[in-house]
Amino acid sequence: MRDTVSILPLTVEGLGFEAGGKPLVSDVGFVVARGGITVLLGPNGSGKSLTLRLCHGLLTPSAGRVAWAHAGGAKRHAMVFQKPVMLRRSAEANIVHALAAGGVPRRSRQELARQAMERFGLAALASRPARLLSGGEQQRLAIARAWALKPELLFLDEPSSQLDPGATRQVEAMLETLAAEGVTLVMATHDLGQARRLADQVLFFHRGRLAEQGPAEAFFAAPATPEARAFLAGELLW
Ligand SMILES: Nc1ncnc2c1ncn2[C@@H]1O[C@H](COP(=O)(O)OP(=O)(O)OP(=O)(O)O)[C@@H](O)[C@H]1O
Ligand SMILES: [Mg+2]
Repeated sequence: MRDTVSILPLTVEGLGFEAGGKPLVSDVGFVVARGGITVLLGPNGSGKSLTLRLCHGLLTPSAGRVAWAHAGGAKRHAMVFQKPVMLRRSAEANIVHALAAGGVPRRSRQELARQAMERFGLAALASRPARLLSGGEQQRLAIARAWALKPELLFLDEPSSQLDPGATRQVEAMLETLAAEGVTLVMATHDLGQARRLADQVLFFHRGRLAEQGPAEAFFAAPATPEARAFLAGELLW
C-alpha cells in the first residue's frame, strides 16, 4: 500500500475547534513531511489530543483545514490511543478484526496478523485474551495492530503514559522500528525524555495554540518562547 501515491505532506492551516462556544484549539498550523517523528508537547489541556483527533478526522474542525496531499487516503493514517481499546477476543483475533474493518480480504487476514505479531515479538501472546494482557503488552499489540494496516502515517496519543520504564522503552523501540521503515509518526507525549529521544520535529502547544514549532534539536537546546522555556524547566503546569 505504501507504493501508491503518498498522502503526505499533511498540511494543517488555521485549525480551530470549539465546544459550547469556547475555543479549545485556535489557529493551529503546521506541516508534516514524509518520514520522521513529530512530537506534540505541552501542558495538560493545551490541545494536543484534540489536534490529533482533528487531524485523524475523528472531529470536525470549526475553522481551518486538515489537508492531505492525496485525497481519499483516510485508510492510510491510523491512530493509537493512550489506553488501548481491545475487543474481548484473542490478541491475534483483534488484529484480524482490524484488518477486516480496514477492508483486507479474508484470505490474507490471518497471515498478516501473524506477521504483525511476529514482527514485534508478540507471537507468544497470539492466542491469549487481549484484555487480560498487561498494559504494556496491550499497547504493543495496539501498535502492531495499527502497523498491520500498513499506514503511511500513524498518530499516537500518549502511547506510553501508563507504562513502566521497561514497557515504555519497548514501545519506543517499536516506534523507532516503524520510523526506520518509513512510517511517519505524529505523537503526543508528556515524557520529555521520550520527546528528546524520539522527536525530529516538535510542536509545542499552550492554551490551545501552537506556541512554537521547529526541529527538536533547536527546540530543546534553545526554546524561543518563555512558555516553552518554562515547560522544559518543569515550571509551566497549565
Ligand atoms: N469535547 C469536548 N468538549 C469540551 N471541552 C473539551 C472537549 N474535548 C476536550 N476539551 C477541553 O479542551 C482542552 C484541550 O484538551 P486536550 O485533550 O486536547 O488537551 P491535551 O493537551 O491533550 O491535554 P493532556 O496533556 O491532559 O492530555 C481541555 O481543556 C479539555 O478539557
Ligand atoms: Mg491529551
